[in-house]
Amino acid sequence: MKLPPYSVFPTIAGDKVSLRQITTADIKDLVEISFYDAVQATTVQEVTEMQAKINKNHVDGNSIHWGIADKSTNKFVGTCGYYRELNKGEGELGCVLLPQFRGQGYMTSAMLLAIEFGLNTIGLNRIWAITSRHNTEAIKLLERLSFIRVADLDGNEVEFELS
Ligand SMILES: CC(C)(COP(=O)(O)OP(=O)(O)OC[C@H]1O[C@@H](n2cnc3c(N)ncnc32)[C@H](O)[C@@H]1OP(=O)(O)O)[C@@H](O)C(=O)NCCC(=O)NCCS
Repeated sequence: MKLPPYSVFPTIAGDKVSLRQITTADIKDLVEISFYDAVQATTVQEVTEMQAKINKNHVDGNSIHWGIADKSTNKFVGTCGYYRELNKGEGELGCVLLPQFRGQGYMTSAMLLAIEFGLNTIGLNRIWAITSRHNTEAIKLLERLSFIRVADLDGNEVEFELS
């Protein structure tokens, strides 16, 4: 297993999107879409604190959080990454797109890159994701990526695993 942190933060370029490190220039865009441990940040200050928490987990070897950029315009469109238990050989994938970039295939492209990195660079044995059973868009995304539903959890949540 090759766990974070890495000497150089991994940037991954695909055909439609690139996964790259989040910068301070992204913080204002992140206000709309920042959730961590089920808590939403609502101000630049809260997003900055949340980013610091995510960075600490990264330094501790447990997470990797990418900004997603449109390959042709370099515009920030959302985030994705692994947020838990990387040191156990498992990765919980999470993702969110700015609303104006949904329905255009950005996240399918980004998640394919993150999955490839998780399996082949980190060396994960299992990749999973949790969402609300009512989150139709997330469920469609996960099924499109060959995840299968493996458990119904409390609080209307469902767990999916990459098959
Ligand atoms: C979950 C979420 C990321 C899904 O976003 P999305 O835009 O549906 O996913 P993609 O970017 O992969 O786009 C796929 C859609 O674009 C369409 N599309 C249009 N052009 C496309 C292209 N060139 N390539 C692929 N898909 C394309 C697809 O048909 C699909 O639409 P459909 O679901 O109606 O069939 C988004 O709803 C979101 O940010 N939700 C809030 C956070 C969240 O719930 N996260 C999930 C945690 S597990």
